[in-house]
Amino acid sequence: MNFAIRAPQLIAVFVTVTLLGLVTLAATRPDDAAQTAPTTAAGVDNPRNGNMNAGDAGSSRAGEPAYVGRQVCAECHRENFEQHAKHGHAMTFFDVSKTDLANRLAGKVVDGGEGFGSFHYRQGDDGQLFAQLPELAELSELPIEYALGSGHNAQTFLTLREAANADCLGLEHRVSLYPGDRLAITVGHEDKTANSPLERYGSTVYGETLDRCVYCHTTTAQINGNRIDNLVANVNCEKCHGPGSEHVASARQSATPPPYSVGKADWDVESEIQLCGDCHRLPQSLSKSELREYPDNSVRFQPVGLLRSACYLKSGRQLRCSTCHDPHVSTHGVSTAEHIKNCISCHDESIEKHTICPVNASSGCIECHMPAIDQKQGIKFHDHWIRVRDND
Ligand code: HEC
Ligand code: HEC
Ligand code: HEC
Ligand code: HEC
Ligand code: HEC
Ligand code: HEC
Ligand code: HEC
Repeated sequence: MNFAIRAPQLIAVFVTVTLLGLVTLAATRPDDAAQTAPTTAAGVDNPRNGNMNAGDAGSSRAGEPAYVGRQVCAECHRENFEQHAKHGHAMTFFDVSKTDLANRLAGKVVDGGEGFGSFHYRQGDDGQLFAQLPELAELSELPIEYALGSGHNAQTFLTLREAANADCLGLEHRVSLYPGDRLAITVGHEDKTANSPLERYGSTVYGETLDRCVYCHTTTAQINGNRIDNLVANVNCEKCHGPGSEHVASARQSATPPPYSVGKADWDVESEIQLCGDCHRLPQSLSKSELREYPDNSVRFQPVGLLRSACYLKSGRQLRCSTCHDPHVSTHGVSTAEHIKNCISCHDESIEKHTICPVNASSGCIECHMPAIDQKQGIKFHDHWIRVRDND
């Protein structure tokens, strides 16, 4: 399985992931990507990430661009690099043994609910973190290998096991980590039952589901047996812009390199929404009934809401994610006042063809028209279906 897919192909990818997955760019051994304490933004900047030389891209066919690592981009695009380092995208996937998680969680105990038992956490000699179910004689502990998510909302643990048919079996742990080092049931696991000792620790994921889980949270990765090879963790520059070796080579020769893969010039509204929607989900990723009923958890999937908003449909489909989000800048650092400016850039009296809010034409737009909707475990997402709501 190979997730080293060029960004321009992403558009086609969500239809034919497996087909493109065959494009084997089996890179040699790029160093494990940034893997440090998830709670410190600076921690994710591991210079070793830049050790992947352009020439290292192993069996990538001659003439095809190879991955160089984001540290190389930093040489010339310092600002984008520093902004990105603070974005959730730079913290989506961690090798737990390279974080301080074992130290932070050792000794904690959490109730997994009826039929599961009490989970205990232990730090191994080499800093590895283990989840334990002491009463479960057949499988009294399981190493925790990976943690997905920045921790802003949550981090969910993943353990890989080799399955009987040499395939990989993933275990998404029943207990996740929430802000403030709070351990509690993973969202979505509330009503699960366990049919095997392994499932007492969580849900098994395999095949396409496991591949996509790793795909959406990493830049490149290959699942081989119970390991991930050629791991470049997190959603880095080259996940969106494509492998950069050719761009870097031409930029080193000329101050005006030719346009690079999917730069500004060729990212139109459609392809940009496809790019973000490849991970943030498009309407195609939801079932017909979810699309019809738009249950509260649909707000997790921002493109789905945006695409049905009058702002998108009636603006000649000019509204895109980057109208309101610089793709390099974390939204957590953007003030509400700046968000309101985006609304007013269209809904302003000076723009005759647009409507003005009869209730409040200058503030409060987000709370009324894009409110944050509660999910389980204290997580909130803003509803990107921008509209006049029943309760307004
Ligand atoms: C390869 C998958 C992927 C792609 C492509 C992607 N995202 Fe994300 N995005 C994620 C993941 C995973 C997170 C969760 C990070 C976390 O755990 O906080 C995220 C989080 C975010 C956040 C919230 C975190 C923050 O710091 O602001 C914003 C905003 C965001 N993405 C916008 C975008 C936009 C805009 C695009 C397209 C230009 C995009 N994303 C493309 C996977 C992706
Ligand atoms: C289709 C792409 C995709 C797949 C598949 C996927 N994720 Fe994510 N994940 C995202 C995006 C995008 C976000 C950011 C949500 C947001 O902030 O809008 C995210 C956020 C998260 C978070 C942060 C907490 C939260 O609920 O927002 C965790 C934890 C997480 N994912 C774990 C996983 C695990 C574990 C798997 C596989 C078993 C998985 N994800 C599969 C795209 C994906
Ligand atoms: C989530 C996807 C995503 C990631 C990750 C990402 N970019 Fe971008 N980048 C974009 C998009 C989309 C645009 C076009 C934005 C626009 O049209 O305004 C862009 C534009 C650019 C531009 C040209 C405009 C500008 O902002 O200067 C540069 C340079 C750039 N990116 C560099 C980088 C570097 C370096 C990194 C990593 C540190 C990175 N990008 C990470 C999506 C991404
Ligand atoms: C040796 C310097 C150098 C390095 C290294 C470099 N770039 Fe650039 N890049 C440039 C120059 C010069 C331009 C053109 C002027 C500009 O837009 O800033 C450019 C332009 C871009 C653009 C604008 C879009 C376009 O069509 O030209 C993007 C996106 C971009 N670079 C991304 C990256 C990414 C991602 C990396 C790392 C893989 C990277 N660059 C590494 C020098 C460099
Ligand atoms: C690209 C321009 C654009 C931006 C940016 C924009 N809108 Fe709109 N919006 C429109 C258009 C076009 C309509 C259709 C009515 C009109 O012509 O004004 C609309 C309609 C609406 C409606 C009425 C929806 C309905 O179902 O009747 C609301 C409410 C709204 N916008 C709120 C917002 C808010 C809040 C923001 C900022 C978060 C925002 N808009 C940003 C273009 C935009
Ligand atoms: C009209 C403006 C607007 C557009 C267009 C827009 N967003 Fe947002 N987005 C917002 C606002 C406002 C927030 C809330 C920011 C905050 O936390 O205060 C937000 C928050 C987010 C978050 C953080 C999680 C959440 O839901 O609160 C993600 C992820 C995100 N947007 C992704 C996207 C993606 C992907 C697209 C394109 C499909 C997109 N947004 C288009 C205004 C917009
Ligand atoms: C206190 C809640 C509230 C706030 C704050 C608010 N709105 Fe509204 N907005 C409403 C309600 C309610 C309506 C429907 C009014 C009606 O139909 O009489 C509306 C209608 C609209 C419409 C449709 C107007 C039409 O004639 O179809 C737009 C566009 C809009 N708002 C944009 C905005 C923008 C932009 C902001 C921020 C500058 C904003 N709203 C702030 C509650 C609010």
